[in-house]
Amino acid sequence: MADHIGERQGDVCIFASKAELFAFTADRILRLSEAVLTAVGRFVAALSGGQTPTGLYRELARPSRALDWKKIDVFLVDERIVPYEDSRSNFGMIKKTLLDAVPIPAENVHPIPVDQADPYAAARRYEEEIYRVFRAPPGAAPRFDLVLLGIGEDGHTASLFPGSPLLDETTRLAGAVPEDDAGTARITLTLPVINNAQEVIFLVTGKTKAPIVQRVIEEKDGRLPAARVRPRGGRPLFYLDNDAASKLAPPVAS
Ligand code: 6PG
Repeated sequence: MADHIGERQGDVCIFASKAELFAFTADRILRLSEAVLTAVGRFVAALSGGQTPTGLYRELARPSRALDWKKIDVFLVDERIVPYEDSRSNFGMIKKTLLDAVPIPAENVHPIPVDQADPYAAARRYEEEIYRVFRAPPGAAPRFDLVLLGIGEDGHTASLFPGSPLLDETTRLAGAVPEDDAGTARITLTLPVINNAQEVIFLVTGKTKAPIVQRVIEEKDGRLPAARVRPRGGRPLFYLDNDAASKLAPPVAS
């Protein structure tokens, strides 16, 4: 099962297979949701797109997981301004792998608006939606119970790319990337809201991610957006497969 190699920047768990990684992460999310629902009656998560979490979402969708979907709100961490039916759409992927398969009420699902060309206007609308659901006054950073993130090979997370002015954002909850490397506009949650979350989990797999995982976890290279994720309530969790963890130093025996 998990080889817990602990005390680095955050908690690091390494799994021999993706199946184990996804099953463990799904369990963790189920347990977290149960604890939060017992305490406050509502669980609010922000989920990432990309390839990595599709296996996790399918796992979460299994009837045996039995999350209490009526009391769970799902937001998106980031999105490309493309139709939801487009293969690049994060919402499209999460809908197909998870939301269509579970009894979540439509009003609990909060996709990022993609129906207008101006990404700045879309970011403002998304921010309003976050304030509405959290019933928070503008200016108060809402606290997501869970933010699930990935890491790109360049160290980006969400749609926060190295060198982006969005990394200096201190007040807005959602920001616009006018054009990514592929020429697509994106909307993303910003660091103030990500870092205010109760729990942040990075899910990373594959050999191509090993060098960046090493730089984020061991070097804590602050130029990398992923290394700037430091949730107020604790440290991010890094859930990795063996390949993604292959450049980390072995754990020091205690
Ligand atoms: C996206 C993401 C992005 C992603 C990383 C890792 O929409 O692409 O939000 O931050 O998590 O790029 O992506 P993979 O899981 O596909 O490697």
